[in-house]
Amino acid sequence: MKNQTTQTGPETDMEEDVDIDNEDEGEEDEEEMDEDDGEGSDDDGEKASGEVFEQLKADHRKVQELFKKFEEGDKRARTSIAEEVLKALEIHSALEEELVYPAIAEVIDEQDLVDEAREEHHVVKLLIKELRKMDVGDKGYATKFKVLGELVGHHIEEEENEMFPQAEEADIDAEALTEEVSARRDKLTHKYEGAGKKSSGGKRKSAA
Ligand SMILES: [Fe+2]
Repeated sequence: MKNQTTQTGPETDMEEDVDIDNEDEGEEDEEEMDEDDGEGSDDDGEKASGEVFEQLKADHRKVQELFKKFEEGDKRARTSIAEEVLKALEIHSALEEELVYPAIAEVIDEQDLVDEAREEHHVVKLLIKELRKMDVGDKGYATKFKVLGELVGHHIEEEENEMFPQAEEADIDAEALTEEVSARRDKLTHKYEGAGKKSSGGKRKSAA
């Protein structure tokens, strides 16, 4: 299984039926998707490479960086940064909930770590839902976004300092997990980017 770029190519068939909770897909469709990759790559080289825990840590670094940038940005910058953060968090949490946590739960003793992580994801999703109903310029937005950042920061620390090391020590099958996560990531990224392009036409306007 190879890594693929995450961009939607020009003639990508938008898979309307790719749901976050649809877990039954095989990997065959992923193979077809790399044929038109490399096109339209305007979104930097964030293709996930490396072993699964390295990928997840790279996701962490990326959102942490974006949370910082948000604080310094003007309204226009904040709008696109926030959108990027929310999308990244949604994809990342789906990968962890669907694939990573179940795999980790099978091999580590401390199940509380997984339960707590799932609960934190739940709160993250509530905040994301609320933020999506707001405009970046709204007074409470920056505060809520900041709280989201703090929660995510705490969550990241626990994953990187406790959960991931325990899973690695327990000899999790990282190779298999890496393949599954990479395939799922491509699908989810296609889905989110397709949805974003359709709804915003490439430029997001704030709901006035
Ligand atoms: Fe994570």
